[in-house]
Amino acid sequence: TPKGSCLESVKIAIDTGYRHIDGAFVYFNEHEVGQAIRDKIAEGKIKREDIFYCGKLWNTCHPPELVRPTLEKTLKILQLDYVDLYIIELPMAFKPGDAIYPKDENGKFIYHETDLCATWEAMEACKDAGLAKSIGVSNFNRRQLEMILNKPGLKYKPVSNQVECHPYFTQPKLLEFCRQHDIVIVGYSPLGTSRDASWVNVSSPPLLKDPVLNAIGKKYNKTAAQVALRFSIQRGVVVIPKSFNPQRIKENFQIFDFSLTEKEMKEIEALNKNVRYVELLM
Ligand code: A2P
Repeated sequence: TPKGSCLESVKIAIDTGYRHIDGAFVYFNEHEVGQAIRDKIAEGKIKREDIFYCGKLWNTCHPPELVRPTLEKTLKILQLDYVDLYIIELPMAFKPGDAIYPKDENGKFIYHETDLCATWEAMEACKDAGLAKSIGVSNFNRRQLEMILNKPGLKYKPVSNQVECHPYFTQPKLLEFCRQHDIVIVGYSPLGTSRDASWVNVSSPPLLKDPVLNAIGKKYNKTAAQVALRFSIQRGVVVIPKSFNPQRIKENFQIFDFSLTEKEMKEIEALNKNVRYVELLM
């Protein structure tokens, strides 16, 4: 992200009313997020406990002995004492080291064999140490969640699973499984991503051009983006829309003054294509 744009955007977001901030070490802007939060606390606009910051454990840091030092590094970058939620970003590990995307001489990723359950135990220890108020996962499928849930001696369940979720990828089965286990689904790419071909499957059509979302939006004087976000929160999916544009940051917050009918919810659910924008081919 261009230097400074994250700092400004987070400040605008907090002024607009956002309190949940989704971050990660690999976004390389945690120093700006931390600065924005601390500036807003210093201004008296918010207290630390008003903010819900989610940080993520990257793939190169899965070995249990690396988990706490990695979180401590994130806290140092943020200059905060704790994160509200710390999640395992992906259910597979890369070789530990300085390379974020370690590759061999043939350009192939270098994976690392680790035990997700052992990583989870180290996450539990971070919660016990007060460094993370809650712990969760991301990009986990049902089997991977079950591995954790069925782990002998499990101390804390994952409170949430952050996965791609929006009208074109509604995740009905995973949503139901997570509901049964009291795991909150946090939906990433709720607007259908930035369509950056370096990491997005752009052969799937743009979500916000969808005629149904636009037609429903017209009825409420809302945009397709607002309808997509409203759809998700109305089915109990937490949304983390990304915008660095002040007007769109505000627009994405104006979703609490209307509601979709059951018929409209069904119409939008029917848009599901079961196709991911974010394929995570690694
Ligand atoms: P920008 O940062 O310029 O606003 P997602 O959250 O699904 O990953 O989508 C993020 C993408 O959607 C970004 O490219 C962002 O661009 C754009 N975006 C965010 N809010 C809106 C909106 N209300 N209408 C249209 N595009 C939006």
